[in-house]
Amino acid sequence: MRIVCIGGGPAGLYFGLLMKKANPAHRITVVERNRPYDTFGWGVVFSDATMENMRACDAETAREIEDAFNHWDDIEVLIKGRRMRTTGHGFVGIGRKRLLNILQARCQALGVELVFDREVESDIEFPEADLVVACDGVNSKLRNRYAATFEPDLSVRPNRYIWLGTEKSFDAFTFDFRRTEHGWFQAHIYKFDEKTSTFIVETTEETLRAHGLDRAGQDESVAFCQTLFADVLEGAPLLTNSRHLRGSAWLNFSRLVCGKWNHFNGKSHVVLMGDAAHTAHFAIGSGTKLALEDAIELARQFERLGDAPALIPDVLAAYEEVRRVDVARIQNAARNAMEWFEVVGSRYADTLEPEQFMYSLLTRSQRISHENLRLRDPVWLEGYERWFARRGGLNADPGSRPTPPMFTPYRVRGVTLPNRIVMSPMAMYSAKDGVPNDFHLVHLGSRALGGAGLVFGEMTCVSPNARITPGCLGLWNDEQAAAWRRIVDFIHGHSAAKVGLQIGHAGRKGSTRVAWEGIDQPLADGNWQLLAPSATSYLPHGGIPRAMSLGDMARVKADFAAAAERGAASGFDVLELHCAHGYLLSSFLSPLTNRREDLYGGRHENRARYPLEVFAAIRAVWPEERPISVRLSCHDWFDGGNTPEDAAIFARLFKEAGADLIDCSSGQVVREEKPVYGRLFQTPFADKIRNEVGIATIAVGAISEADHANSIIAAGRADLCALARPHLADPAWTLHEAAKIGFKSIPWPRQYHSGKAPYEANLERAAAQTPGGRA
Ligand SMILES: Cc1cc2nc3c(=O)[nH]c(=O)nc-3n(C[C@H](O)[C@H](O)[C@H](O)COP(=O)(O)OP(=O)(O)OC[C@H]3O[C@@H](n4cnc5c(N)ncnc54)[C@H](O)[C@@H]3O)c2cc1C
Ligand SMILES: Cc1cc2nc3c(=O)[nH]c(=O)nc-3n(C[C@H](O)[C@H](O)[C@H](O)COP(=O)(O)O)c2cc1C
Repeated sequence: MRIVCIGGGPAGLYFGLLMKKANPAHRITVVERNRPYDTFGWGVVFSDATMENMRACDAETAREIEDAFNHWDDIEVLIKGRRMRTTGHGFVGIGRKRLLNILQARCQALGVELVFDREVESDIEFPEADLVVACDGVNSKLRNRYAATFEPDLSVRPNRYIWLGTEKSFDAFTFDFRRTEHGWFQAHIYKFDEKTSTFIVETTEETLRAHGLDRAGQDESVAFCQTLFADVLEGAPLLTNSRHLRGSAWLNFSRLVCGKWNHFNGKSHVVLMGDAAHTAHFAIGSGTKLALEDAIELARQFERLGDAPALIPDVLAAYEEVRRVDVARIQNAARNAMEWFEVVGSRYADTLEPEQFMYSLLTRSQRISHENLRLRDPVWLEGYERWFARRGGLNADPGSRPTPPMFTPYRVRGVTLPNRIVMSPMAMYSAKDGVPNDFHLVHLGSRALGGAGLVFGEMTCVSPNARITPGCLGLWNDEQAAAWRRIVDFIHGHSAAKVGLQIGHAGRKGSTRVAWEGIDQPLADGNWQLLAPSATSYLPHGGIPRAMSLGDMARVKADFAAAAERGAASGFDVLELHCAHGYLLSSFLSPLTNRREDLYGGRHENRARYPLEVFAAIRAVWPEERPISVRLSCHDWFDGGNTPEDAAIFARLFKEAGADLIDCSSGQVVREEKPVYGRLFQTPFADKIRNEVGIATIAVGAISEADHANSIIAAGRADLCALARPHLADPAWTLHEAAKIGFKSIPWPRQYHSGKAPYEANLERAAAQTPGGRA
């Protein structure tokens, strides 16, 4: 085959040499606009796993790279005068120039033709090529030429950064955070050869401008950074690689995703590779790794499917299919890490204590979890757990195993939850006339016996017409209050759990069938009048609600207050106001469902006015020493709807009104929503609200293991973790997860005590049989 790689970066060179090595008959050219051995950049980092991959592909280059490597394990974090270190993180660094030189030399030894000093304008310049590899970097001309096919989606990120270097040697991957009078700057520092380290300085656009650095020349910017980071530099100067820089020395990172990676130009197949196809922010240092792994995969597919020109379409399709998955995973992690650095100044640096700040930094990509940190550096993690437990008022003797974060108690107003696990409210559709019955006693009682610190009953409706379905629970009469009292007393009498009451009104989503007869589907008969801020239905064939009059509002508000009062008398410990999921109060908050033109519609304060009036009414009757949580849909997942920014505004208003917790859910507001699900997908909302608004939060949604909960609580992304479906699968989720992570100090109900030790022993036995495994 005739192969031309446009761009002599890591992707082009490595692909060229792998293909030539696999079949010396291929004619391969790498065309590079720069001169030989002339390149930009400082050091690049890979993980040990990438190296292993390279060793399997070409032992010779791998050996040379390894000889030139700097390997280090430690991460050091400097903030507010503190210097903290952890180990076991396994990085390898090499100078970009050195890496390219090794690859260039290997290409030449194998017979790959290298053409330097040639700027390629188009793939058409190589009509004889069977395959043109567009590995011409993030600003790829080839990709832009076929933008209609490749569908590049380039988002320019708000932070500004400058790539610098220094000859001061650092023996750890160092993050240094410095506050100035205008905001925070951070330096990402890593050594890549015996005497040189990369030194990237990053800040927000706002802070950059406030310092006048947007107008500063390069020398001025370097001088500024040198002064700001003088402590860590210890007198060493910062160096630039100025030849590469265009315009301002301060860059914006561009995050690139492409819809398609290959194209046929009529003569040759053109395929994207490396930065031309996708970018990953330097916060997880994976740009070079991705470029190399693309090259490895494309070469592997040629080896697997055959390296004849006729097979190129199949090979390219297979390459794209395999790489997309891996690239998406790394890009997601890189995005999390990048976003962490974008908000670090406004969200974490001032608010979190240095220990927790460091934990948050280490878990920023959400790929490294609590247990993963334990594998890397057990001593550091145990020290952190001890610190966290002490902060929660626990005795954390150095000799004993510290209480994991999710099992630490949590105090809010006069209520102390025994741990941070909440059973999330879940409608069971099993009531008649809104009265809790034996099913609810057993259902909620068994979850309380199962170890959750707080057990929420399902959405409990404040009047018959406030129900979602005829099977929903209520609290509008004394019979219901007495039945609730029986459940609450059972839980208080037989477990350490606290009990939560969620009160709500279905709004326009009411008068529907029970879940197993069709979620959100209107009742066949016996429908009741729906109420909503505006007269629009949830489903096209659903009931049209009445836009609430002031009289309706007053009546419903009184219903909420009466339910709260009955709830207090029934002994509930925590009250939650349901302002999520498109039910009545949620539909006031969302601009998609609130079209009112009076004082209750329009800007945030107006849309929140009625929910806040209801909140004030329940706060007035709910005992002072007991907390109230507010559940919000923090994202409507639909254009024009609420976003996490809006949710933060509402959270602030509820905080000012006296709310203690925000329960951060999302969606279900409009039927056309396009949610983006995934592991812990709503946790970023809890994180944002907790750390920007300064109110305690409950994270919920696709949290399914102790490791998730510990990571969330330890990082301060939320104060409590709520789990719904896992509690349907396992009423004793909390007790079982404790056993799985080997935490034995959590008490089981005394009646069940003889089951605890065998359960733990079985898990230990299973773990011992799993190589390297915990249960
Ligand atoms: C300023 C800067 C500094 C960086 N420094 C580092 C660093 O220190 N550490 C790190 O891990 N990552 C660094 N990166 C990111 C890293 O370079 C990439 O993620 C990685 O190199 C991707 O490899 P690639 O082969 O896909 O693209 P690149 O490495 O970008 O290689 C593309 C090559 O194509 C050439 N080229 C582009 N257009 C043409 C054309 N029309 N004709 C001919 N040749 C062309 C370019 O000169 C370049 O050599 C840096 C990026 C930038 C922008
Ligand atoms: C069967 C079922 C019923 C639910 N009913 C309610 C409810 O009454 N009130 C509420 O706020 N959320 C309700 N939810 C949402 C859950 O509380 C929770 O936010 C959601 O299921 C995500 O958590 P998970 O991934 O742990 O299941 C319900 C969820 C399920 C599965």
